[in-house]
Amino acid sequence: MAKKVIEIQGLNFYYPDSTHALKNIALDIFEGESVGVIGPNGAGKSTLLLHLNGILRGDNHIKLFDMEISDKALPLIRKKVGVVFQDPNNQLFMPTVFDDVAFGPLSMGLSKDEVNRAVNEALREVDMLDCVNRSSHHLSSGQKKRVSLATVLSMRPDILVLDEPSSDLDPKHRRDLIAILKRLSATKIIATHDLDLVLEVCSRVVLLNAGRVVVTAAAMEVFSNRQLLEENDLGIPIALCKAG
Ligand SMILES: Nc1ncnc2c1ncn2[C@@H]1O[C@H](COP(=O)(O)OP(=O)(O)OP(=O)(O)O)[C@@H](O)[C@H]1O
Ligand SMILES: [Mg+2]
Repeated sequence: MAKKVIEIQGLNFYYPDSTHALKNIALDIFEGESVGVIGPNGAGKSTLLLHLNGILRGDNHIKLFDMEISDKALPLIRKKVGVVFQDPNNQLFMPTVFDDVAFGPLSMGLSKDEVNRAVNEALREVDMLDCVNRSSHHLSSGQKKRVSLATVLSMRPDILVLDEPSSDLDPKHRRDLIAILKRLSATKIIATHDLDLVLEVCSRVVLLNAGRVVVTAAAMEVFSNRQLLEENDLGIPIALCKAG
């Protein structure tokens, strides 16, 4: 059986204004699997994802690779877990696209040549190599989203945590994204409203609503339960509508 890489037990999280955003979350993630995190606006998807590399700490009921998340473990955890934020403006902060994508590999202590190679490869994967010398802040939303993905791909993390990776992407680059995700062997946790992406990429789904896990099940089991989807303000993947 695959190794457990993330173990969450009884996780609660309150924002400073006392919003109870995560309620008694329990979830195990296994090496190499792709898990879709779905649910309506405000369900807690982004809040949960921000716990997976210690950006938010909650009451710390999370183990990553059998490690508790502690200040001491954070540098190692950040090497192993790459998070792409929902808003690329929170991800991109360096003067140029190159600097943003090089930031991770540089902090891992790679040589100049290795950094250049990692940046080139990651930008080519997301079709943004043409913009390597531009300012990230002047890119379009979809271009920023693609560079954000490259900042994490360049680190080759064991676990990829992606928050709305397909939002703002045009159809061609959304297809490219799906192809990249299918090709990568990393463990993937993907929060999204793009249920067709989940259907193509993820074998398991976690459905959140109002800070609670409603169900964790095989993707097809969730997507074939029309009542469950409607009760949670979700639609049905277009690919399944066409199928009847
Ligand atoms: N910085 C914050 N301070 C206070 N409350 C917050 C903050 N960020 C999010 N929340 C609240 O926490 C809850 C979960 O929000 P979260 O952003 O995790 O939802 P989500 O499932 O990612 O939604 P979406 O589909 O809109 O991205 C919501 O009630 C939201 O209003
Ligand atoms: Mg969100």
